[in-house]
Amino acid sequence: MLTSAEVSEVTLTFADGAEHVLAVEAGQNVLDAGLAAGLPLLHQCRSGSCSSCLARLTSGHAEHRAGASSSLTPSEKAEGLRLLCMTEAQGGCSFSLGYDSKVGETKPVVAQSFVNAVERVAADVVRLELELAEGSWMTFRPGQFINVTVPGTDVVRSYSMATTPADLPRIELFIRLLPGGVMSDWLENRAAVDDVVTIEGPFGAFFLKDKVKAPHVMIAGGTGLAPMLSMIDTIRATPGKKPPVLLSFGCQTPEGLFALDRLELRGHWLPGLETRLSVDRGTCESARTGNPVAAITADDALPPDAVAYLCGPPGMIAAARAHLEALGLSSENIFAEHFTASGA
Ligand code: FES
Repeated sequence: MLTSAEVSEVTLTFADGAEHVLAVEAGQNVLDAGLAAGLPLLHQCRSGSCSSCLARLTSGHAEHRAGASSSLTPSEKAEGLRLLCMTEAQGGCSFSLGYDSKVGETKPVVAQSFVNAVERVAADVVRLELELAEGSWMTFRPGQFINVTVPGTDVVRSYSMATTPADLPRIELFIRLLPGGVMSDWLENRAAVDDVVTIEGPFGAFFLKDKVKAPHVMIAGGTGLAPMLSMIDTIRATPGKKPPVLLSFGCQTPEGLFALDRLELRGHWLPGLETRLSVDRGTCESARTGNPVAAITADDALPPDAVAYLCGPPGMIAAARAHLEALGLSSENIFAEHFTASGA
């Protein structure tokens, strides 16, 4: 029999209040223990890189495994955020999950799709439109991502959908081109209409929360715009009063900006949407010079119950979290998806 020194009692609470108590053995991570107990925990990579298993430590002590690298920044860890696939409990502790218990009941599936369109939309961004093949189906929440196997290889890359579940069987991705990247090489040199592409999903705990009427702030860096487009279109299509949405979208240079016509159109369709464009370098009539985080200021008078969605590189996410909390937002209302480049 295992002793209490070898087993920790860990409580997991879903956003809908469903609570589960787990016995987590020494050396076991909390995700494995939860999945073994049959809990509907979101996950994907199980190696600390995708953030799908994000949770917030609400009491007790639990750290990431010694020496393990993860996509969380030191400031996010200091705030209590943990990746359950990397986390070992040190005695009794509790975590809250940012999603309802029913969310994890939608299991990822492998599906076949065809290329509908592939086109360069900015200096380093390609729009890839896929259509699910007959007999294939998947659904997702706006903001989630899929894994795409690069045709002709066994290399898998993750991308957020820019389209909504209502657009299925059509799925649209915005993919950043990287020097030497396997996906980039396929997109630039071989991808063609009607190519077959294997996808798997949905994954991720970053998605639009239902029925939130408080103002929404969205900060997107580069192709981090994709999940925001899915969320904005979902807000627009949802019956009832729409929350105000302040979108701050930034790229390194004016040549990197994309989907501007769509954003303009959505500004007409969704009067509560305000879009701010930023570029780090160079000048552009429609964009300010600077980063998309600094484009949100105290003058915006964001209420404490505003919700924020952040998607971009880890440095931008960390800066945005700190900035929004300094402006009075609750850390529990800030949701983030890190985009990290997979160049090889
Ligand atoms: S499943 Fe834990 S970070 Fe991907």
